[in-house]
Amino acid sequence: MRARQVRVHWIWSALAGVAAIVAAEEIPIALLFPVESRRALSVLEWVLTLVFVADLVFHLQLAGKLHVGGAARQSGRSSRYGKAWLVVDALAAIPFQILPVPAVFRLLLLAKLGRVGQLMHRWRQHDVHRANLLRLLFFLFWLALLAHWIACGWLALRGIAPEFDPLTNYVRAIYWCVTTLTTVGYGDITPVGNAQMLFAVAVMMLGAAVYGYTIANVASILANIDPAKVRYQEMVEKMTAFMKYRNVPPHLQRRILEYNTYLWEKRLGYDESTAISGLPPSLRSDVLLFLNGDIIERVPLFRGASEEFVRAIALEMRPTIFTPGDYIIRAGEQGHEMYFISRGRVEIVSPDGKAVYATLTDGDFFGEMALLHDQPRSASARATDYCDLYLLEKATFNHVLDRFPEFASHIAEVAGKRRQGNQPASEAPE
Ligand code: CMP
Repeated sequence: MRARQVRVHWIWSALAGVAAIVAAEEIPIALLFPVESRRALSVLEWVLTLVFVADLVFHLQLAGKLHVGGAARQSGRSSRYGKAWLVVDALAAIPFQILPVPAVFRLLLLAKLGRVGQLMHRWRQHDVHRANLLRLLFFLFWLALLAHWIACGWLALRGIAPEFDPLTNYVRAIYWCVTTLTTVGYGDITPVGNAQMLFAVAVMMLGAAVYGYTIANVASILANIDPAKVRYQEMVEKMTAFMKYRNVPPHLQRRILEYNTYLWEKRLGYDESTAISGLPPSLRSDVLLFLNGDIIERVPLFRGASEEFVRAIALEMRPTIFTPGDYIIRAGEQGHEMYFISRGRVEIVSPDGKAVYATLTDGDFFGEMALLHDQPRSASARATDYCDLYLLEKATFNHVLDRFPEFASHIAEVAGKRRQGNQPASEAPE
């Protein structure tokens, strides 16, 4: 379906859903107060019937389109499922109000609420970010509807009290329903006779079940409204406990905490490589290309490069974060990777950390010399800021050098200049 059709489908489904909800509220009321509601509700009933007829036509058309458009692909099960829904739509479109059948037949329309459930399900799947919040809201909605039906059932059993007006009758029934459902039971409205008592027992049992469900689910829904934050808090708590247990010095504790806070602020605490590791290769490479897009934009070396080269590099680079003061590289160590700076500042310093050879920033790279010449690190690299870096491992670096000679010559040129710059004046070539 094209975007416009999808939008129309959503809007129409929402409209038909609202009509189904109104019908679910209105029908029991109309059955309870036939005289009072007759005139006021008859227009509404006709409007609802018209909406349901239009909805039936809409779904018939949709089913027809799917059939023509190759729904032969549809499995037998899903086509049976579609037909069952069409029966529900057809049932709701029957104008029971003018047919010579008892008024209770209109309760058949309540089956249309299934479409509302279907819509809610699709909505939650569509709006993944707010799926838990929606779950909570939908649960509250069904609970309110259930309370309405129970109140109407109670009124039907007890009869309308003539000393009260219809609204007061209804409010008293809702009051009884809520106090019984929540097992508060003030006892000011008590059941009389077997039928009412059995009804009250059923409502109390239902109340207990709903209570259990609510406690179990609402707590988890609330906790899961922001799962990333919950995960982050759990991790920080675990980390803090561990650091206390191992007597980690305060300055290290602070750095660990700062690192985690930065990771949380930047990426909601997600480790990107783990998050996408389960994806199939082609989708994974497209996602990686998008995620690593900012570094490709920033590094001048990548900007004008061929798509093949960018793909080869972008798929292999891994994001990593350093906090101010961290040593990314230490002079004299073996080199296993090189780095590209996406954001932040890195100082290249002498082995003792006193002399600063250069300050590198967004788009620069470092750590290439050890890989290129198979030698220990020539200098140390220290983050002076929060740094978002991308790391390229030695094996990939060598592989890319072999495949892309322009990259190899550019890197060699930069490395040569740096090496010359670091040499004491007496050693520098004439
Ligand atoms: P490597 O020797 O692997 O590790 C230290 C890195 O610091 C080195 O690679 C270079 O990438 C970088 N580096 C060394 N000297 C300079 C310099 N003068 N200017 C910029 N970067 C340098």
